Amino acid sequence: MQTADVTEELARRVVTAAGRALGVELTAEQALIQASPRDGVDYQANLAMSLGKRLGRPPREVAGLIAEALELDGIADPPDVAGPGFLNFVLRTDWLAARTGALLGDPRLGVPETTAPRRIALDYSSPNVAKEMHVGHLRSSVIGDALARLLRFAGHEVLPHNHLGDWGTPFGMLIEHLLDVSAGQRAIADLDAFYREARRKFDTDEAFATRARTRVVKLQSGDEDTLAVWQELVDESTRHFNAVYALLGISLTDQDIYGESFYNPYLATVVDDLEGAGLTEVSDGAICVFPEGFRNREGDRLPLIVRKRDGGYGYAATDLATVRYWTSERGATDLLYVVGTPQAQHFAMVFAACRAAGWLTGHAEHIGFGTVLGADGKAMRTRAGETVKLADLLTEAVTQAAAVVAERSELDAAGQAGVAHAVGIGAVKYADLSGDRERDYVFVWDRMLAKEGNTSVYLQYAHARTQSILRKAGSLPDGNDVVLEAPAERALALKLLRFGEALKAATSGYAPHKLCTYLYETAVAFSRFFEECPVLKAASPELRASRLRLTVVTSRTLALGLSLLGIEAPERL
Ligand code: ARG
Repeated sequence: MQTADVTEELARRVVTAAGRALGVELTAEQALIQASPRDGVDYQANLAMSLGKRLGRPPREVAGLIAEALELDGIADPPDVAGPGFLNFVLRTDWLAARTGALLGDPRLGVPETTAPRRIALDYSSPNVAKEMHVGHLRSSVIGDALARLLRFAGHEVLPHNHLGDWGTPFGMLIEHLLDVSAGQRAIADLDAFYREARRKFDTDEAFATRARTRVVKLQSGDEDTLAVWQELVDESTRHFNAVYALLGISLTDQDIYGESFYNPYLATVVDDLEGAGLTEVSDGAICVFPEGFRNREGDRLPLIVRKRDGGYGYAATDLATVRYWTSERGATDLLYVVGTPQAQHFAMVFAACRAAGWLTGHAEHIGFGTVLGADGKAMRTRAGETVKLADLLTEAVTQAAAVVAERSELDAAGQAGVAHAVGIGAVKYADLSGDRERDYVFVWDRMLAKEGNTSVYLQYAHARTQSILRKAGSLPDGNDVVLEAPAERALALKLLRFGEALKAATSGYAPHKLCTYLYETAVAFSRFFEECPVLKAASPELRASRLRLTVVTSRTLALGLSLLGIEAPERL
């Protein structure tokens, strides 16, 4: 089943009415339909104000004319004109009930697939080889994976690519250090310790530093033995990253790895083509592009360095090649980069240079995110002042979750251990997803594992409760009649019908927190319904069946919504 959501249903009719009454042609968006924050009003159309200005007529009069011309086909009662010219809609409860009942037979819960699918290259996670993933990579992984799920569900093709930092001058010292470590036994237990040791030797041991520099040259010239050791480093690191992805339920695989080294073969032509297009300048011996409109505080133009003075290529050159690869060779229509906000300027400059070069004509966007802060309000660190390791953090999350689950659980000890993973990992991911991504957030266990409030634990409990009701009910009655008599029933049904609107907002704005807010409101509406409307002991068999149906749709909405965020919804807690 493919249906328009309520906003679209109303917009279509408002646009038609405006055309008929005023002779204007509007798009659906221009109907300015909004869910109403006011009690007793479900939706409002806010077009009369701007339309009035445009037509030189009083907005209230414009609103009145549209209202008169409206054919609502039983969706809503004729709207009131309120305030400066709002059209206030109250949906008809019988229509609402029929719509809600129809959700039962629809695996997509009323959410249509896009009619204009895009091919989206999505850069996320992107940690650095021979370094432990840190909380910044946690955010990129969690947000990126949620976006991948949302975009795929919407019907787009997603090409994930993990832009591993696997190239550059530090690899000379890292390779030499790995060679120094006893030959037979090269597994790296602790990537950060390995990196620090390599760096210490480089800084204190002149002979080692010389070897490291020679090694970089060998690496860059494609020496086979050197590349083999480099590959070992990459594989060792990938093993660590995959362990974190497995813990987190991140869907990236080895096939998605397109590290910086992958773009090596393209770098020379990237520079040649930029030179050919007259976009480069030599500055201090380096070949640079100065994209239009980027200046520092002194007013000097800012460069993207495409080839360094020593002939090497850096981060910027690789990103130029990356854009060109995904647009030209892979036909991506959209490029998305889930990377911390400090890199905003870097991406803006890369996009500008690529547009100037003609490699980028479609949509490109840096999806930035803020920093994870410790309780002290500063970037999160361990007590020893080091960056926090993700694996440690996630293990801690599961331990903390086990304690929370034990406080109130219908499960035995083994069952509790099973769900502690879902609860702990869910809490960490949800804390990351539920706030506006561009803002920093404070990492506080008690807050993210709270059973009340906008947390995954709350949503998981709400979902488990729906499942428990359905288990107690036994078999589900056939049919899809829904009765909406009590206000809590109607409010729940209206929420359930807004799933598609929430997904659309979360997907188009790359804003998973909008889905979180929606799921939270749905769980709250369900809990009110559950308090006010007996389900299993309803007054009549029809009412019992209808309430079970509302419970089914709620359950499926919460489970699907959480799964699109990459969070598990256990059936029992
Ligand atoms: N490895 C980089 C870092 O850890 C992130 C790479 C982001 N992607 C890109 N195409 N530059 O900061």
